[in-house]
Amino acid sequence: MQSTCDSKYTSAKPLHVAIIMDGNGRWALNKGLPREAGHHAGVATLRKVVEAAPHLGITTLTVYAFSVDNWTRPAGEVSVLMSIFKRYLETEVSRLVRSGVALTVIGRRDRLSNGLVTLIGEAEAASAAGRQLSLRIAIDYSGRESILAAVAAALACQPGPLTRDQLSQLLAEKPGAPDVDLLIRTSGEQRLSDFLLWESAYAELLFTSQLWPDFTAADLEAALSDYRSRDRRFGGLTPPQPVSLMTTNPCISAWGSKP
Ligand code: FPP
Repeated sequence: MQSTCDSKYTSAKPLHVAIIMDGNGRWALNKGLPREAGHHAGVATLRKVVEAAPHLGITTLTVYAFSVDNWTRPAGEVSVLMSIFKRYLETEVSRLVRSGVALTVIGRRDRLSNGLVTLIGEAEAASAAGRQLSLRIAIDYSGRESILAAVAAALACQPGPLTRDQLSQLLAEKPGAPDVDLLIRTSGEQRLSDFLLWESAYAELLFTSQLWPDFTAADLEAALSDYRSRDRRFGGLTPPQPVSLMTTNPCISAWGSKP
């Protein structure tokens, strides 16, 4: 992957890819395994995707590991997931540091165990100098809560009108992270599930029926190739339309002639 992709992609503009890693449970059940086996397999997929990302031109990768609503899952599954996050932080950080990956965890921390919060802090500090990839793992995350918190912060410091840029800066997870360019969801579900709602305003969406444990680096490369073939207009027109075309609209001509 590295040799073929590096030269093709390194000159491309910075790219933020977000992934909703869905389908672990179904993957395991399809194989007659307990759901937790699917989550373990999901870790292996995450490792491969993180390894491949910088070579595909991805500069920021945000993955959805646990939403604020995932607390409603059976206690046993929540506990397995929390152990998996801990183990990941304990075992992966040295590999991430070697690969120049800066890890941050976004989302609430007040409901996580002290042990997990300590590991998160240590992992963030140890990998902070990484420049190849910013890996953001969303744990106990909600896009709507993130927006609410930013609005509350804005109201506390500035009673007047708020701009989009200002609110962007107030999102706790946002500083340093660009808006999402491509959002991928595996497992055939086609919804955002409260993930990066503000940051994905103009994201390209890609839904694949593959279950997360089956997703590969080659699939990520194919997703990026699809993304790069799309025409991102951000509400505008490409190529820019000649002015004469616009002024053939009588309303626009009339407005244009106003003093
Ligand atoms: C969704 O699958 C997946 C999750 C809720 C957990 C995601 C966690 C991992 C991929 C483990 C690795 C993550 C880290 C950060 C080490 P699901 O359980 O909803 O699957 P289903 O829809 O088939 O039931």
